[in-house]
Amino acid sequence: MLKNNGKKAAICVACTACLCLLLTLLVAVQHHRVQVEEQMDDGEDAGARSLLQDAAQLDGAQDKKGFSAYFTKLARGRRDVEKPEGSTAGGAAARANADPPPAEDISADDIFIAVKTTKKFHQSRLNLLLDTWISRNMQQTYIFTDGEDDELKKKIGSHAINTNCSAAHSRQALSCKMAVEYDKFIESGKKWFCHVDDDNYVNVRTLVKHLSRHPHTQDMYIGKPSLDRPIEATERLGDNKMKPVNFWFATGGAGFCVSRGLALKMSPWASGGHFMNTAEKIRLPDDCTIGYIIESVLGVPLTRSNLFHSHLENLQQVSKSEIHKQITLSYGMFENKSNIINLKGVFTVEEDPSRFRSVHCLLYPDTPWCPPQVAF
Ligand SMILES: *[C@@H]1O[C@H](CO)[C@@H](O)[C@H](O)[C@H]1NC(C)=O
Ligand SMILES: *[C@@H]1O[C@H](CO)[C@@H](O)[C@H](O)[C@H]1NC(C)=O
Repeated sequence: MLKNNGKKAAICVACTACLCLLLTLLVAVQHHRVQVEEQMDDGEDAGARSLLQDAAQLDGAQDKKGFSAYFTKLARGRRDVEKPEGSTAGGAAARANADPPPAEDISADDIFIAVKTTKKFHQSRLNLLLDTWISRNMQQTYIFTDGEDDELKKKIGSHAINTNCSAAHSRQALSCKMAVEYDKFIESGKKWFCHVDDDNYVNVRTLVKHLSRHPHTQDMYIGKPSLDRPIEATERLGDNKMKPVNFWFATGGAGFCVSRGLALKMSPWASGGHFMNTAEKIRLPDDCTIGYIIESVLGVPLTRSNLFHSHLENLQQVSKSEIHKQITLSYGMFENKSNIINLKGVFTVEEDPSRFRSVHCLLYPDTPWCPPQVAF
């Protein structure tokens, strides 16, 4: 529940990791702090939409203004973050030829990709990923869910991990899964931890190329920030004292990566049961808690990249000619209209509503189910 202006609004979100983004939006719209408590409904995109609209209404704005203002902000944030890491238009092609040599020669096997899902999306969301990008990356992909599924086990074996966390969309349940992801990554010995949601397409070749720019022993936290300014939160200190904290976080719905060097330093706040405790201390969801540990506690800045995409941004803005350069993509619905990338692929929107099958045929034209005549 939100408690502010005497107004209570149920929070329900579609994806499991976009809570933090929505929270930031609320902070942005209301111009003062909101407090979020445990209760969160389970829900579809309608939930996210109603939250966005609530946020707009709280400020007396008209319904849709909140969302378009939010998109505008995101676009501005994106332009601002363009320089350090990402690339879209213009000089990108020229720069591609002049890419600096990799800092470290890594392969896909050095990356641990955690996909967070929930049992009710195994059919509708996960199968699409298993048919597309995961099929090429079985060795580095681990699926973190909350129920047993023999069909899933047949497909990916021990990489289907039942976290035994609650299937609710509560802050605690989300943090519970992130805690298991972290521990499994540390156990794996791999060099990079990357977290994505079950509505993300991961272009692993681009991801490898991107991560190889940095030694995995360096402190690296890479992703797309939620907005163009840090989130404000309140840290609970032991003796009923509160301390305001500001930090950037990479939005979980777009995916983010952490180097092993940094992940090891996070251990006192993230390993075993500590992640849940840390999340409790600041009362924010999983992706915010990662940002809190890294930026606020360890003092390591988020490295911004515009190559990660969540369904809470306008995906039409992803440049058609640069789809293959993106690290993650997503899809979703807003006001009964699909929010998808603009790709004239080998499948129609009716055949391939998420566009992920078309993207996959663009990146891997030798896939057996891709039409043979692909020539882009
Ligand atoms: C979940 O519970 C099962 C059965 O008790 C156990 O085998 C499994 O290791 C647990 N998963 C995790 C991630 O702890
Ligand atoms: C979306 O579609 C459903 C069913 O077709 C309809 O009931 C609902 O009013 C629509 N919502 C909006 C915001 O257009």
